[in-house]
Amino acid sequence: MTKSFTQNILPITIVAGIAIGISAFTIHPPKTPARKTIEQRIDSVIAKMTIDDKIGQTAQRGASSRVKGPLPEALKNAVREGRAGSVINVVDIEKVNELQRIAVEESPRHIPLIFARDVIHGFKTIFPIPLGQAATWDPEIVEQGSRIAATEASSNGIRWTFAPMLDIARDARWGRIAESPGEDPYLASLLAKAYVKGFQGDNLSAPNSIAACAKHFAGYGAAEGGRDYNSANIPEQLLRDVYLKPFAAAKDAGIGTFMAAFNDLNGVPSTGNQFLLKGILRNEWKYDGMLVSDWNGVVEMTTHGFARDSSDAAAKAANAGVDMEMASNTYEKNLKELVASGKVSITQLNTLVRDILRLKFRLGLFDNPYTETPDGKVILTDANLAAAKKAVIESTVLLKNDNITLPFAKNVKKIAVIGPLADAPHEQLGTWTFDGDAKDTHTPLTAMQQLYGKDNIFYAPGLNFSRDRGTDGFSKAVKATHDADAIVFFGGEEAILSGEAHSRADIGLPGAQDSLISALHQEGKPIVLVIMAGRPITLGNILNKVDAVLMAWHPGTMGGPAIADMLAGIYTPEGRLPVTWPKTGAQEPLYYNHTNTGRPATKQAYVALDSIPVGAWQSSLGNTSHYLDAGYLPQYPFGYGLSYTMFDYYHLVQDKTVINPGETIQISAEIVNVGERAGTDIVQLYVQQMVGDVVRPVRELKGFKKISLSPRQKQMITFKLTAADLAYHNQQMKLVTDPGIYKVWIGRNSAEGLQGSFEIKEAPVVKEKGRKIKRIVGGKTSTN
Ligand code: BGC
Repeated sequence: MTKSFTQNILPITIVAGIAIGISAFTIHPPKTPARKTIEQRIDSVIAKMTIDDKIGQTAQRGASSRVKGPLPEALKNAVREGRAGSVINVVDIEKVNELQRIAVEESPRHIPLIFARDVIHGFKTIFPIPLGQAATWDPEIVEQGSRIAATEASSNGIRWTFAPMLDIARDARWGRIAESPGEDPYLASLLAKAYVKGFQGDNLSAPNSIAACAKHFAGYGAAEGGRDYNSANIPEQLLRDVYLKPFAAAKDAGIGTFMAAFNDLNGVPSTGNQFLLKGILRNEWKYDGMLVSDWNGVVEMTTHGFARDSSDAAAKAANAGVDMEMASNTYEKNLKELVASGKVSITQLNTLVRDILRLKFRLGLFDNPYTETPDGKVILTDANLAAAKKAVIESTVLLKNDNITLPFAKNVKKIAVIGPLADAPHEQLGTWTFDGDAKDTHTPLTAMQQLYGKDNIFYAPGLNFSRDRGTDGFSKAVKATHDADAIVFFGGEEAILSGEAHSRADIGLPGAQDSLISALHQEGKPIVLVIMAGRPITLGNILNKVDAVLMAWHPGTMGGPAIADMLAGIYTPEGRLPVTWPKTGAQEPLYYNHTNTGRPATKQAYVALDSIPVGAWQSSLGNTSHYLDAGYLPQYPFGYGLSYTMFDYYHLVQDKTVINPGETIQISAEIVNVGERAGTDIVQLYVQQMVGDVVRPVRELKGFKKISLSPRQKQMITFKLTAADLAYHNQQMKLVTDPGIYKVWIGRNSAEGLQGSFEIKEAPVVKEKGRKIKRIVGGKTSTN
């Protein structure tokens, strides 16, 4: 099995130049005899299956959370009778093996089960939430985190996770932004590959590999108004150029499964969306893996008003190519009749079953169905915890640092630790941590007590939890600051305030946190605000009342020690924002790669609404696209993040100013650490196409590189771009690169940088729909 899978994983995409990875090419491994073997083995299993056996494979059963106590008889019977292809949320090696034994020994066709679980950002060793991991801009640490998650989860019998979530998120009100890779398709695509590699390893049939799942296909992150489950309306061009990109990357990396999204996309629920699931996923992308519905996603098509009843829903999902039904049982109830009446063909049912069996073969389950207890400790090992701590340091974004408040100077010896998240082990784990334990979690309070000595930390939370509106604890909190040299306020959101079905309309600090910070401000001591949250938090006037701000997201198991070390300067925060940070939630959706409009606001000074004289006929920004009361700029742009040191960028150099077909342009800049400390920077490459067949974004990320420099050290960073890297979908939905002028920036974030430009002289050769090579001229495909 081991041999056959490595030869079968298809196709492998190789990216030249790691994070600066500009040009990607695809190698299709030859069709080896081993590949045939899997298909032949599927043939021989399917030949023996009755229609009931086939329908049985399409069912995923289990419970909505962990099955506790003895296994339910109903579940055992369903497995025994061959009415289950997969089981969700049974997480225990004995129970997994018991159910597997029933499947393999007692069910009619002896087909093994796949055990599934949401292992989203760790199993027991919890890493930062995915949005935090995106802030690392580091595919290596993301791969390491998902490898650790796979090793820990598989030791408990789990061989399938519902991750990575690859929904581009442009609206911080949406609770599931916490689970997302952020707003940028380029960054998200690199991370998608890293997640797949980490979860699945080099060989999916290895006992410590688990199948990954690209979810939620597609457009779920564009929920209108940022309200979870809401409709997504995305023009096809935007869908292809932004929302689908990370999914395509996951597919190219050989991901084992996809999940259909809950939402309707342009009026058609994803679960029954032929255009998405058949047209794009299967026909264009040639995906041959398994496709599962989301929880009750099939039956909910009736509530959407897209299916008449459960039978109609089953037919629509099955005909769109949803192989397995999670939670609801419309397939079990209706497929037999639907096949008899010809509404679903037997060929289509066989296709669904083949996809399911293919995954089971790829996972090696037919050959090794049982989970063996691994030799030695694999859960919460020192190495796992060290990697989780590293991930926190890489993900933490220093947003503000007036008067070099951080790192604390040597004379800061006594620290007041205030705030509802200073010692909240469960809350710092964040959303989707089914298996993470508060008892294994290291909080900032305990870590700071260890680092500075218990007697030097004056702890008074002030508020019991993030939404607490009571002010009873304020006086104690203020008193705790009296003998302190500095104050650290740990605020933000409890875990429950982000994630699925946890969208917020107001994304400021909840409860009385603002008032407590204002009270602390009166004491006149330096205040550091450490935010732990599942999304950017709007800070309003509070921003002026604190000296430094660290965004730690929900940092997971090792949040405490990492944050304590960063405050003390043992480590420097390295994160950069993977999403635009708004001034107010009312600006959302807000993202850097927007288009220009005919009347863009420019950098001229924005005067707040309150200061516009009565009788004035227009604001300081004139008739441009902005809000009278919030301007047009975000609080912090995409890509932003400070360091404890400073970097300057010099000498933008291009090796050419004109790109002819087949050529590569090299763009370089010199980065100098002009500060007093060592530090890391993330050097970012952005491009703007000045004129397009459809309007083009004002900037698009096309490359980045993370570098570490000691004081006064400099480094030349070079990015490479080809015409294919600039391709987009035009009005005819062709993937083209237009001749014309392009601006280019190398900078520290999406709002600044050294600027250059180049011209593409002739229509270059580009890929169409990711496969065929064609020469495109002004949207028309030429014949040569
Ligand atoms: C979520 C999925 C998740 C599934 C299984 C659904 O509610 O949308 O992301 O994988 O539940 O727990």
